[in-house]
Amino acid sequence: MKDIQILIVDYGSQYTLVIGRSLRELGVRSLILPPKKVDQWLKENDPKTVILSGSNWSVHNEGAPELPKSLDITGKKYFILGVCYGMQLLAHKQGGKVARPHDHREYGPAVVTLDTTHPLFSGVKEKTEVWASHGDTVSKLPKGFRSIAVSGGIAAMSDKTNRVLGIQFHPEVADTKEGKKMLQNFLKISGCKKDWNPEDLIREIQKEVLDIVTSPKPSPDRRGKKGEVIKQKVILGVSGGVDSTTLAAILAPVLKDRLICVAIDTGGLRAGELSELKANTGSALGKNGLKNFTVIDAGDEFIKNVSTTIDGEEKRARFREVYKKIFEEQIAKYNAGFIVQGTLATDIIESGKIGESAMIKTHHNVGLLWKVEDLHPFRNLFKYEVRELARTLKLPPAIYERNPFPGPGLYLRIVGTPVSKENITLVREADKTVSDILKKHKITKDISQLIVALIGINSVGVKGDERVYGHSLAVRAVQTVDFMTAKSYYFPEEIINEITSALTKHKDIVRVFFDMTPKPPATTEFE
Ligand code: XMP
Repeated sequence: MKDIQILIVDYGSQYTLVIGRSLRELGVRSLILPPKKVDQWLKENDPKTVILSGSNWSVHNEGAPELPKSLDITGKKYFILGVCYGMQLLAHKQGGKVARPHDHREYGPAVVTLDTTHPLFSGVKEKTEVWASHGDTVSKLPKGFRSIAVSGGIAAMSDKTNRVLGIQFHPEVADTKEGKKMLQNFLKISGCKKDWNPEDLIREIQKEVLDIVTSPKPSPDRRGKKGEVIKQKVILGVSGGVDSTTLAAILAPVLKDRLICVAIDTGGLRAGELSELKANTGSALGKNGLKNFTVIDAGDEFIKNVSTTIDGEEKRARFREVYKKIFEEQIAKYNAGFIVQGTLATDIIESGKIGESAMIKTHHNVGLLWKVEDLHPFRNLFKYEVRELARTLKLPPAIYERNPFPGPGLYLRIVGTPVSKENITLVREADKTVSDILKKHKITKDISQLIVALIGINSVGVKGDERVYGHSLAVRAVQTVDFMTAKSYYFPEEIINEITSALTKHKDIVRVFFDMTPKPPATTEFE
């Protein structure tokens, strides 16, 4: 592996991996480490630049994460960029002041005025829209620093040499209109060269997985004698979505008949998905050399377990239990030594399993303890990057353009009312109705994800001059690049009317709500 030019110190911001992703989009790889692992890494490596991430901590809180001891923040050894908390930490540690003013908290879009003579903002508009998310702010600069952006308070700072920089807003988030340009400028200032492309990544993933599964040193998990190369099977759960299908296509040529792909009918799939999975995914993977593909029918078992609660996290826990049990049965059946999953960086961040990130929701396949070793080769990747790998592998557009769908499927779209076969059928039909309308109006491509949820509000309505007491549906369409933040899609009025009229044709549906809340504060799914 080539030397890493950029180290990102992860202070737990929701956006840390987005910094890595944005740099990769600009062609440069980076490594993300929690502060406690940095000292060791710096002993053995020589990065060109170190980026300090944001955090939900305040520098004034007891126990707030610190600068790694051996990190040189003078800019002599490497360029330094502090983002949000990273900037506050740089200021605080060098004699500046960090305050929590009541009138300068920013959450969401903000407008900043930049000093465009500074190389960090070269070619960027003087007034530009950015994404901010902070309560604390640098109120006094450290000695030798100057302000290079303002938005009510200091929004960015630089030392005299332009080697130590701080930005209060988030250049890595897609909503910072010219964030990419700023990061590109930073790469230029710090002399980082392009070192990432999809073909390399595919080869790296194949090598990483092959090295582990053919390792002659058995770990306690790899039931074999010391020194023996064990040819154990590798189980991969395939949902038909872009992540798992792409991973299977990457691994099939190197693992050959050792790779067992298992698809589960969870009972929570969308209309037509099961037949698509059997026909299209199976054949696309077959073309990539996959030999073993099985579909397991477990709908009744999932419904029985998930229907015992209406609490979002509990539902996810019930779903995970059944999911784990089924995979364990497969592991035993094939005497497999490994399980490999298409878990993305987003899933890991929001499950609170990376660095210091806060837990938002437990993804169905993250953090499960298996009896065998589990591998997550996509752990540093985002959805759009996996789509790029799928395109590179020449998988069909139906796979790489596919809207994401959560593993727990329609179970997450029955909110505040118990899951039942009838309710699942209702949301499945409603999802198909709305999807067909979007297709008819050719707006599917403008929407990153559509959610049609049954919400537990029963209310009075009138149908055919008669009083009815029925359910409500919520329709939510979002636009996003990486699912870390999302904007609501505004349907044209005639489409709102068409959707409402189509959904209320169902005898039990009385009301349709349209959810326009962005992420944050909402999430994409309802739970
Ligand atoms: P949220 O709701 O967290 O969703 O904004 C971000 C993306 O992740 C999907 N999602 C999941 N995918 N297992 C998955 O495989 C899960 O448990 C899960 N929960 C959410 C969601 O549909 C969206 O695309």
